[in-house]
Amino acid sequence: MTTTRLPETPDPGAVTVVGLGPMGRTLAGALLRAGHDVTVWNRTLGKAAELVTAGARLADSPAAALTAAPTTIACLVDDDAVTAVVHQAAQQADLRGRTLVNLTADSPARTRVLARDLATLGVDLVDGAIMTPAAAIGTDATRILYAGPRPAYEARRDLLAAFGGEAFHVGEDVAAAASHDVALLTLFWSAIAGLAQALALTRAEDLDVTALTPHAVAMSRLVTDLLPGLVADVAAGRWSGAESASLDSLAASLDHLRTAHAGAGVSTELLDALAAAVGRAIAAGHGGDAPIRLVETLADGAHRR
Ligand SMILES: NC(=O)c1ccc[n+]([C@@H]2O[C@H](COP(=O)([O-])OP(=O)(O)OC[C@H]3O[C@@H](n4cnc5c(N)ncnc54)[C@H](OP(=O)(O)O)[C@@H]3O)[C@@H](O)[C@H]2O)c1
Repeated sequence: MTTTRLPETPDPGAVTVVGLGPMGRTLAGALLRAGHDVTVWNRTLGKAAELVTAGARLADSPAAALTAAPTTIACLVDDDAVTAVVHQAAQQADLRGRTLVNLTADSPARTRVLARDLATLGVDLVDGAIMTPAAAIGTDATRILYAGPRPAYEARRDLLAAFGGEAFHVGEDVAAAASHDVALLTLFWSAIAGLAQALALTRAEDLDVTALTPHAVAMSRLVTDLLPGLVADVAAGRWSGAESASLDSLAASLDHLRTAHAGAGVSTELLDALAAAVGRAIAAGHGGDAPIRLVETLADGAHRR
């Protein structure tokens, strides 16, 4: 095995980006604009052309890429691809002392597996979750969550500042950012699913869907206003439905909603799933508790870490 060792005095501002999909290209471009010495690598040649014109160096192998700088930012389709690229590099180079900032989205469990695997190669993992689209990178709208060893993150804050916006270190547990990512995307897609259900009914009733917009916005604000208190209730284990709607009243409301949707010929499959979880909580004797008690019902059987 031919090995490439870490340079004695690596340039702290140098950085490598592996993965030049829409997000990786945008991240590399932001690093170049911030004045960093950027090396890039992508499995398929050709995607680096614009970045090279803008001043990036093109590595001809994963090993050349991961040894070109003390920090490599990975932005690939999933952690299997990250593992494949790092192991390809490790066959030709000594990666000890390097840090991988992995901005690839994957599950918390797979992030932990990746961290353990990288540790066997002497590579530290800072894992990140990008909460905004590629177009936001480099602007104030960027929002990125990071997790893993805090010193490794702190040492790279100036580098990561090139992405703009807000950055948060959400925990030493390397899977914390991936976990937040999954949780927040669940919240996001559930809200979009709720909007789709609402608009399906509005359209089936032959009403102008745009007329619903101001009222839907007001309803979303109500959720936003209630959210911190509900999370505080969960944190404190306060389930009393005495001061809010109870699960019993939610069940009655869901019956009414499902009847209305079915009557208009709109599928109730999303509402049925919610009604099933509410029914399970009530059957277990929690009908008088607040709807946020569903946290307990949904997590029945979860193995807490
Ligand atoms: N795009 C966004 O707005 C956005 C927003 C938030 C988070 N993210 C996250 O950012 C990550 C990257 O997203 P993306 O939109 O840039 O593109 P993507 O389609 O998710 O990933 C494409 C990249 O993965 C590489 N790749 C796939 N399989 C590989 C393998 N087996 N070995 C090596 N490389 C492999 C591709 O290489 P080839 O070019 O050779 O195919 C390409 O560089 C994802 O985890 C995504 O969830 C993206």
